[in-house]
Amino acid sequence: MVIMINFDRQRKTFCLRNRYLSYWFYVNEANILQHLFLGSPLADINLLALTNLDTDWSRTYLDKNTNLEGSYQDAFYDGKSMMEIPGFGYADKRGASFIIEDSNKNVATDFRYVSHRIYQGKPLLSQMPCFRDEGNVQTLEITLQDLKRDITLLASYTIYEDYSLILRNNQIINNEEQPIIIRRAYSLNLDLPSKDYSLIHFPGDWCNERREVEEEIDYGLKRLYSNLGRSSHEENPFAFIKEKDAGEYQGTCYAFSFVYSGNFAIDINVDKLKMTRVQVGINDEQFAWNLASKQSFVTPEGLIVYSAKGINGLTQTIHDITREKLINKHFVNKDRPIMLNSWEGCYMDFNTEKIIRYIDDVVSMDAELFVLDDGWFGQRNDDNTSLGDWTVNTQKIDLKRIIEHCHSLGLKFGLWFEPEMINPQSDLFRHHPEFALGDPKVNRSLSRHQLVLDTANKAAIDNVYSQIITILDNYDIDYVKWDHNRNVADAFSLAVSNYQQGEVYHRLMLGSYELINRIVTRYPNILFESCASGGGRFDLGMLYYMPQVWTSDEMDPLQRLFIQYSTSRLYPLSTMGAHVGKHNTAIYSTKAKISCLGIFGYEFDPKTLDAEQKKAVLDVASVYKRNRNLIYSGDVYHLLTPYKQNYMSLLVVSKDKRQGLCLFSNLKKENIEYRFLKLKGLDPQKKYFNSFDHQAYLGSYYMDVGINLCKGLTFLETYLIEITIEE
Ligand code: DGJ
Repeated sequence: MVIMINFDRQRKTFCLRNRYLSYWFYVNEANILQHLFLGSPLADINLLALTNLDTDWSRTYLDKNTNLEGSYQDAFYDGKSMMEIPGFGYADKRGASFIIEDSNKNVATDFRYVSHRIYQGKPLLSQMPCFRDEGNVQTLEITLQDLKRDITLLASYTIYEDYSLILRNNQIINNEEQPIIIRRAYSLNLDLPSKDYSLIHFPGDWCNERREVEEEIDYGLKRLYSNLGRSSHEENPFAFIKEKDAGEYQGTCYAFSFVYSGNFAIDINVDKLKMTRVQVGINDEQFAWNLASKQSFVTPEGLIVYSAKGINGLTQTIHDITREKLINKHFVNKDRPIMLNSWEGCYMDFNTEKIIRYIDDVVSMDAELFVLDDGWFGQRNDDNTSLGDWTVNTQKIDLKRIIEHCHSLGLKFGLWFEPEMINPQSDLFRHHPEFALGDPKVNRSLSRHQLVLDTANKAAIDNVYSQIITILDNYDIDYVKWDHNRNVADAFSLAVSNYQQGEVYHRLMLGSYELINRIVTRYPNILFESCASGGGRFDLGMLYYMPQVWTSDEMDPLQRLFIQYSTSRLYPLSTMGAHVGKHNTAIYSTKAKISCLGIFGYEFDPKTLDAEQKKAVLDVASVYKRNRNLIYSGDVYHLLTPYKQNYMSLLVVSKDKRQGLCLFSNLKKENIEYRFLKLKGLDPQKKYFNSFDHQAYLGSYYMDVGINLCKGLTFLETYLIEITIEE
């Protein structure tokens, strides 16, 4: 077993190292953890050279015993050194990892090293999703003690042998006799010794998720966040920090995220010495966790990815670890069925006969799964009513007949749910108004006519759980789409005391995870897809439970192309629902090709397609079917970004370099010009056939010369090019 974590007793340095990276920090003479380095797998570091700042005056302190001036011998500068676990209320004003208020209202928080242990394996979080303890993975757990209060911090640093990343997790234990209030508990902190970085982040909106934005980092604090109760359309919980001269394939870059689906903050703070501090954690806005004596609080798991090979190195590490250590193994490489989802085709306007006809047509589209979306339950014919009433609307549909019909035609059957919501017009609300989130004494915000189910209330989740399992136990269902169609507002829960209202956002998330976990583990063979008004909850937390996510409600192929391009920077293609819709910006062939690098599917009434359109879609479906495994498990290369030019190209190459699939689109009509599409990731010595010009070239030719696209291009002219090794 390769040893990856070392402690040098003499210098008190910790080093986590594998073949991709090394992460160094040390325990200084005041027992403060000082950060040293995250980067290439260095065999050693020079402690003095790394810590020496030319600001001597701040190395002194007033000795508590003598009242005389003392000075740190080992180059520690209050408020200036790079830190591992920055405190609050003392000299470091650049952003704290923890803010803890005790019963005396003291908020000064400063954790000092006590001891550590190194062990094989990693922590698993009992109430939250996290990466799996598998393969050669080792953890350094450091025990720290607050300077003035009896509060312990267990800070875990985990390293896998095969990935260029460090996982972080923190646990706070209250050993005081009185309760404490945790006002901030971040998952990770990284101090970087420069401000010469750019930030890439992924803000957006409904139908406009995860736009890729690059900006320079400069002095001051920048916070990327969600305070919407879900990871949100507005900002995805991922940030890339790259050295300014780093590019797609070269240079030093870092990615930061955590395995969580609720409110988050990613704080990036550049101080006067040009040090950049990056922190990730539960958003501390409206967060105050009461921790009783002898109880503990665990943060979500944070991750820091390091790449010496540019942005693409980040993407590949994130994809690999997500596929190999996070997503349910049972599904991750399994063929995901081509689905036809009823939503865009007929919304809630259906009955049994209409659906049966629909299903007959679905077969002609080579689909493998039919999904009955919203509108099958309670009294639901529009979005005013029935969320919370998970019983079949037998006046509207005969669900058994529909399912049997699907199965008799060899199609799988899927059903839509939105379990974490409740309509005021529902039996559930009428019988249990207390299950709805918010203070009933004030007017609550409605969004899509619905309130949020109070998943902090155990009785509410038990009720919805038993309703859902009654459906799933009694009907032969192969797939579930798990939707979540509004942001969380009115975060007031009747299930907890008034003084606990600052816990509600996190409790909602824990309750949702519990409900989801109970259901997905009860039905290990049902394929679950997460959705939140499109891609409003596309995050590592949800991917732990559900292997795929509906990427966006946007059906315009031009817009989807942007959304899917940048989403695939963060999340594997095997997680991205990518359906062909009825939107007429482009012809069906183009729309289908754009949907091919993801989980291919349809979102239209098959009757509305003529024979030519059907054939165009079916041609692409067959490309998808024979390349499914490649799409799910290959290495992704972002060749041409639509965010900076008029072209988009995305390539996936199998791990064994025998196969590739490349998507190219142009975004506006282009005249003839010299234009060669250079590929990546092939074996330079091997010959590959391509389905574009039907020639075979050496890998080096594709990568150095490229595929000849020297021609005029029409608007959204799109190619899907298969690359196959020649024996
Ligand atoms: C939002 C989803 O993104 C859609 O695909 C659809 O399922 C609707 N909700 C149904 O209400």
